[in-house]
Amino acid sequence: MSKLYINKPVPGIDQYISLNEPAIGTAYSESVYPQNANLPVLFKPITIRGLTFKNRIFVSPMCQYSSDNGHATDWHFVHIGGFATRGVGAICMEATAVVPEGRISPEDAGLWTDSQMEPLKCIVNFAHSQGTLIGVQLAHAGRKASTYAPWVHSDIAKTFRAPTYVASEKEGGWPDRVAAPSDIPFSDQYPKPQPMSEEEILRVENAFVEAVERCKQIGYDFIEVHGAHGYLQHEFLSPLSNVRTDQYGGSLENRMRWPLRVAQKIRAAWDKPFFYRISATEWAEGPEKDPNGEWKQWGIEQSKIFVGELKKFGVDLIDCSTGGNWVKQKIAVGPGYQVPYAEALKKAHPDLPIGTVGMITDPEQAESYLSGGKADVVFLARELIRTPHWAILAAHKLGVAVKPANQYERGWVEMLTPAHPGASSDHRGGEQGTGKENLDQAPAKN
Ligand SMILES: Cc1cc2nc3c(=O)[nH]c(=O)nc-3n(C[C@H](O)[C@H](O)[C@H](O)COP(=O)(O)O)c2cc1C
Repeated sequence: MSKLYINKPVPGIDQYISLNEPAIGTAYSESVYPQNANLPVLFKPITIRGLTFKNRIFVSPMCQYSSDNGHATDWHFVHIGGFATRGVGAICMEATAVVPEGRISPEDAGLWTDSQMEPLKCIVNFAHSQGTLIGVQLAHAGRKASTYAPWVHSDIAKTFRAPTYVASEKEGGWPDRVAAPSDIPFSDQYPKPQPMSEEEILRVENAFVEAVERCKQIGYDFIEVHGAHGYLQHEFLSPLSNVRTDQYGGSLENRMRWPLRVAQKIRAAWDKPFFYRISATEWAEGPEKDPNGEWKQWGIEQSKIFVGELKKFGVDLIDCSTGGNWVKQKIAVGPGYQVPYAEALKKAHPDLPIGTVGMITDPEQAESYLSGGKADVVFLARELIRTPHWAILAAHKLGVAVKPANQYERGWVEMLTPAHPGASSDHRGGEQGTGKENLDQAPAKN
């Protein structure tokens, strides 16, 4: 019998989806593409807790403020599905609240009840059908909860539509049930939070573990805890937002107690990769520690200690961000503005994978951080909004040949040309760069 040429399906799923071999975004073997002999670090796989990520370009979590009572919708399927088909090494889905009052806005994502699993399973299964690893950021917004979606509050040019950020009960909010370590609001335009009781602290802690159990059923490959940007974990860590006098406030040990206990419980419940996002500085005025040795704000020195503790509890990767807990923060924004913080953590903990994020837009720029040993992976948010196929474009710009989706290969003919002397530029066999034209135009037998 002659050989059969089949448009192979992804095995084991209930619809026809074309199988990509290798997975989209994987660098091809140098035996076919000699230009891949010296791969940029960006396209070298990385293995974390036994799971291999095909490249080091990760989608940073991005709130969409588009969930239906915490349930993902078709918007999320398309938004995340688009990244899954375009070659990123991993997707971290948006901040997902473990309790309803832990949402930032009424339309935030949630994982506090079982019915929220089904739409997420569809998204995760689709990402897997595209050979893309996917995780979720588990979160509690603390004192920054019950606020409007950004576009409800103001437009991007800062034309304000609402006088404060607070979403009232009538607008779907819960301003009287906003929880935090202390009763200090983020600003006078934010809800006044209620200090959490011991009972409340335990309830939220257990909600994180219950959400992790749901993540297992959904099939996520990794989870990330949102310990950054002035949300609940960060609020406990920082002396600016935590002035408690019990075992959760005061000394660094006390301020770290609850975030570390949550991390420890999650680690006990979850055996796949566990990422943790921190804000490594608050960009507040003055030093992190005063001359009397008292910590005044959260910063890189405490971050190094905290990350060391997280490492002991088995956290696998630190996603290093900054800011979000001090309303008067002055951020020195520019390309890679948060990289020095990732680098400092990498120096302090060389064996722990570190991710860097923030105004990474250019492939050479991203590669320089990785090849310079400043971080192990890059997380991108806004550049991926502008350029969803950035991973493949980056490969092209860096002279690497990676696998695009079968259906999109014709958009990448130039990248898919083996760069060695004498190589045919129409190696795919067709005058327009695919073999299909040849078959369509095969001379008729007569
Ligand atoms: C639309 C949007 C939503 C975001 N939502 C989240 C989120 O859910 N969790 C989080 O940790 N960061 C969130 N961020 C911050 C990004 O993950 C990222 O850290 C930040 O935008 C800096 O990276 P960039 O310069 O590549 O955009 C969001 C950013 C954007 C633009």
